[in-house]
Amino acid sequence: MRLTVNGIERGIESAPLTPLLYVLREELGITSPKAGCQQGGCGACTVLVDGEARRACLLAVAAVDGAEITTVEGLGAPEALSAIQTAFHEHYAAQCGFCTSGMLIAAHAYLEHGGSGERESIQETLSGHVCRCTGYVKIIDAVAAAAGGEITSRQKWLPQTGEESPVEVPGAPA
Ligand code: FES
Ligand code: FES
Repeated sequence: MRLTVNGIERGIESAPLTPLLYVLREELGITSPKAGCQQGGCGACTVLVDGEARRACLLAVAAVDGAEITTVEGLGAPEALSAIQTAFHEHYAAQCGFCTSGMLIAAHAYLEHGGSGERESIQETLSGHVCRCTGYVKIIDAVAAAAGGEITSRQKWLPQTGEESPVEVPGAPA
């Protein structure tokens, strides 16, 4: 089996019924998709499969053979954050960060499909994503800001000293 993950084609050696989540985390070492409930209920494992937000814990890797997979590591880089990553940073939409990868992917897909800044639409999009920390208001604020183009420089948060950012994998505590 083969997957294109964040633009790089990878051969997959896991057994065909292995959940995509485990293939990403354990075989490929991509840790932004989180193993939360592992039953499809929390959204922490959400990734893009051919541009659609899907729960990686529920997908056998054989069912997505040949697909393009995008995780948070593929949304942007520290020096070039995506719009939704910038908005999350500017609106303090992440606390512990465990839900953040799934939220970012779902929100990114929402925006890519022309989602508006209307709060009820955003709530509906994120309704299957559980956060223990933020109370959701800041997350919805961030998505609304990204939808409305209300973000400032995507490089604003980088250190001004010329030192490398300590965050090597944005949004992805292991
Ligand atoms: S870990 Fe996949 S939905 Fe919770
Ligand atoms: S930021 Fe902690 S679970 Fe959402």
